[in-house]
Amino acid sequence: MNNMKDSLGVSNGHLTIGGIDCTELAEQYGTPLYVMDEDVIRQACREFKASIDECYGRGMVCYATKAFCCKEMCRIMKDEGIGLDTVSGGEIYTALAAGFPADRIVFTSNNKKDEEIALAIDNNIGRITCDNIEELYRISDIASKKNKTVRVVLRLKPGVEAHTFEAVMTGKIDSKFGFAIETGEALKAAKEVAGLPSIELAGIHCHIGSQIHEIAPFEKACEVMFDFIGKLRDEGIIIKDLSLGGGFGIKYTDADKPIPYGDYMKAVSAKAKQCCEKLGLDMPFIMIEPGRSIAAPAGITLYTVGSRKIIPGIRTYIGIDGGMPDNPRYALYKSEYTAEVANKADEPKDEIVTIAGRTCESGDLIGENMPLQHAEAGDTVAILATGAYNYSMASHYNRVPNAAVVMVKGGTSRVVVRRETFEDMAKNDI
Ligand code: LLP
Repeated sequence: MNNMKDSLGVSNGHLTIGGIDCTELAEQYGTPLYVMDEDVIRQACREFKASIDECYGRGMVCYATKAFCCKEMCRIMKDEGIGLDTVSGGEIYTALAAGFPADRIVFTSNNKKDEEIALAIDNNIGRITCDNIEELYRISDIASKKNKTVRVVLRLKPGVEAHTFEAVMTGKIDSKFGFAIETGEALKAAKEVAGLPSIELAGIHCHIGSQIHEIAPFEKACEVMFDFIGKLRDEGIIIKDLSLGGGFGIKYTDADKPIPYGDYMKAVSAKAKQCCEKLGLDMPFIMIEPGRSIAAPAGITLYTVGSRKIIPGIRTYIGIDGGMPDNPRYALYKSEYTAEVANKADEPKDEIVTIAGRTCESGDLIGENMPLQHAEAGDTVAILATGAYNYSMASHYNRVPNAAVVMVKGGTSRVVVRRETFEDMAKNDI
């Protein structure tokens, strides 16, 4: 399910999510408001899990918590029997506080602090993905002092470029993430592990980018990784785990043509099987790390319109009560979204508008040239597919409290992250 078609509807002219009227949600919980449909989240988890079972027989789906992390999300992931790909001490803490099993947590980031490594080791986190040689030594030192053995996965740069936006490209050689295969750096690191105490080389990892709408780069990365596994085998190093990262594209606007997740998985697993045969390898334990594709299609953000400003011959601004602090993606990446006036959802979108946020920043926009129903002060605007990288990238710019997150399921709604208060924001001020 790469879009929200099963979650969103229109009833009595109003947009609904999970069968609930969006204007009622806005009224009940206030705006801006993130709303997530739990069934959509669970459905995506099940699709990925079924694909792993079907395509590889064994492996693990690790939801990339950077897309959207809160305790309830971790509980849902636990319940769905999948793992977590965490990126910081904060995400690990949240997962553990939600009762998430430590052995299903992977800790993947590019510059881990010693205290984060210690937190992971103290809590017996399943795997640590190592990004660079200094980190490898630090993990080894910290683990040795604690008399523990850590399962380490090496993050590699497969040198594959996918057609996505520059800021989220990660697999090419000029990237801050991981060890390069081409330069010999990765092989050197893998050999180095053998001499280090308290480290077990569990596997290798790559992540080539995000919001990718092509299968070929995933196949290519898979091939490069298997070639490297073969090379390591020839050096006497056996790789048990292979993580192929996340990056599956979703639908933000009609211009996006998402590929069903099962199609990616089938194509990549066929390539993996072919590589194993060619190189005489056993299939490793396969891990994937979808983030956006699990969280984004499940979420929408609701805002209240405060103003309508027409600049003749130039543009119409629709001013909303949120913006960059709850969704910085247009300001950062010019990411496009689909908007709806929730209380006029059955009316035609006969205007082209710029949706403007309320912070002191001209670039604080949710989007430009957006088709929208006629919006006026008091209307509720919904921005679709905001479940990933919105709440998780929120800021307090202009001292704006973070919006609440509401989960809908079975026709009911519940708060899973409370709206911040002014007091919350100022609580650490001295
Ligand atoms: N694994 C690793 C190692 C990653 O770095 C990422 C995302 C993922 C998995 C999940 O990728 P996904 O399935 O969500 O594409 N803030 C940007 C996206 C940055 C993605 C960073 N890494 C945005 O708002 O589009």
